[in-house]
Amino acid sequence: MSNDGVNKGRRRLLVGATSAVGAVGAVGAAVPFVASWNPSAKAKAAGAPVKVDISKLELGQQMIVEWRGKPVWVVRRGEAALGNLAKIGGLLADPESAVPQQPAYVPGTPNRSLREDVAIMVGICTHLGCSPTYRPEIAPEDLGEKWVGGFYCPCHGSRFDLSGRVFSGVPAPTNLVIPPHNYVSDNVVIIGVDQEKG
Ligand code: FES
Repeated sequence: MSNDGVNKGRRRLLVGATSAVGAVGAVGAAVPFVASWNPSAKAKAAGAPVKVDISKLELGQQMIVEWRGKPVWVVRRGEAALGNLAKIGGLLADPESAVPQQPAYVPGTPNRSLREDVAIMVGICTHLGCSPTYRPEIAPEDLGEKWVGGFYCPCHGSRFDLSGRVFSGVPAPTNLVIPPHNYVSDNVVIIGVDQEKG
C-alpha cells in the first residue's frame, strides 16, 4: 500500500487558482474541472502563460489548470510514487523519453520533471486527444496488480504513469507532452514560459 497519502476523500481534484500572467489586477477565476474539459473563452483567446500556486497541492493530489485551452495537470508525488516510477521502465514504450515530448531542460529520467515531487504535463492523450483520468490507486481491480498509479484514457484504454510515460501495447504512440514551465518560487510555477537559464 502506498503511503502517498492518497485516500479517497483527499483524492478529489484541487481547484486550480490561476491567473493570466500580466493581466493587470486580474485574479484568476477558479476553474472547477467537471466531467469534461471546457476551456474558458479567456484562455482560448489569450493563450497567455498561466501562473499556478501549488502551495495547497497535497501529496497525491492532482490540480488541473488550463493553458491555451488545454488541461494541464499538476500532481504532487511522494517517495513511494517516485520509487515506483524507477521500477516500471520495462512496462513502458519510451521509459527514457527519447521521443522529445518535453522541453530540452526537462530530463528524460523516470521522473520527467524539474522537481521530483511535482509532475506537470498536458492532459491530452497522444492517441486521439481524449483527456485521461487520474488513477493514483495501487493495483485497483480494473487496472490490474501491476498498476502503481497513473492516468488511464477511457476512450481506447491507453495508460500512462505518473510521469506521463506511455505503457507498451496501448494505442497512444508517445508519452504525454510536458509544456514549457518555469518555477519562480517554491510555490509558484508559470506554465507557458521556458525555464530561465540559471
Ligand atoms: S484517445 Fe486516449 S486511447 Fe484513444
